Amino acid sequence: MRKKIVAGNWKMNLTLAQGEQLINDIVNAGLKLEDNQAVVIAPPFPYLQKAKSLTQHTEGFFIAAQNCAAEKSGAYTGEVSAEMLKSIGVDYVILGHSERREYFAESNATLAKKTDLVLANGMKPIFCCGEPLAIREAGTQNDYVAKQLEESLYHLPAEEFSKVVIAYEPIWAIGTGLTASAQQAQDMHAYIRSQIAAKYGREVAMHLTILYGGSAKPSNAQELFACEDVDGGLIGGASLVAADFTAIVKSF
Ligand code: G3P
Repeated sequence: MRKKIVAGNWKMNLTLAQGEQLINDIVNAGLKLEDNQAVVIAPPFPYLQKAKSLTQHTEGFFIAAQNCAAEKSGAYTGEVSAEMLKSIGVDYVILGHSERREYFAESNATLAKKTDLVLANGMKPIFCCGEPLAIREAGTQNDYVAKQLEESLYHLPAEEFSKVVIAYEPIWAIGTGLTASAQQAQDMHAYIRSQIAAKYGREVAMHLTILYGGSAKPSNAQELFACEDVDGGLIGGASLVAADFTAIVKSF
């Protein structure tokens, strides 16, 4: 049975004190997680160790970074390496978020390098893909997403690919309050799974966790998570409010 994940991407929000309070409220919410269920908290870099210390004794809770450097180490001022993240107990790393692709010109080739470094350091990539509105309106979203997967992930052998989590985030739904319909989400998730089956075989594809991200809220999470190929969510705005985030976790 594939893992079901609700991950909270805090982006560049909250002070340390606010973040500590949020994590404590989530940890103390009395969530009853199934054996195959995980909650992933993705705070900004400076809070990762604190987040790890607040969650490490809570079953089913994990920590993610929101990015990592494309180089192993060296003269890259301001960058944070995968090795550094591993050394402080980070479990997952979000890669290829549309905001990083847009604001920091992250190419599929760069993301292939980052994926390799995350895996080489024993962490799991949460690899983001998704189309802009113009592509959706043109109806070419499948080809667009397929290209992102092919250029960043298909160099991986099946065993390494099996450690990857995919997050489909239609750019036109991120932070807009516009959510993809459950059918749109299911169609893309099923397409992604079919592409992975064609590349790596049915077994790998059936075990792949595919998250939906893009204005997921307590009001729509149940319908989204009921879709056969939606295995959870990558949550932005709603992850900053404990009651909303825990309501989404309970939506399976
Ligand atoms: O990474 C998740 C994020 O991009 C979705 O943001 O605010 O639409 O849930 P939001």
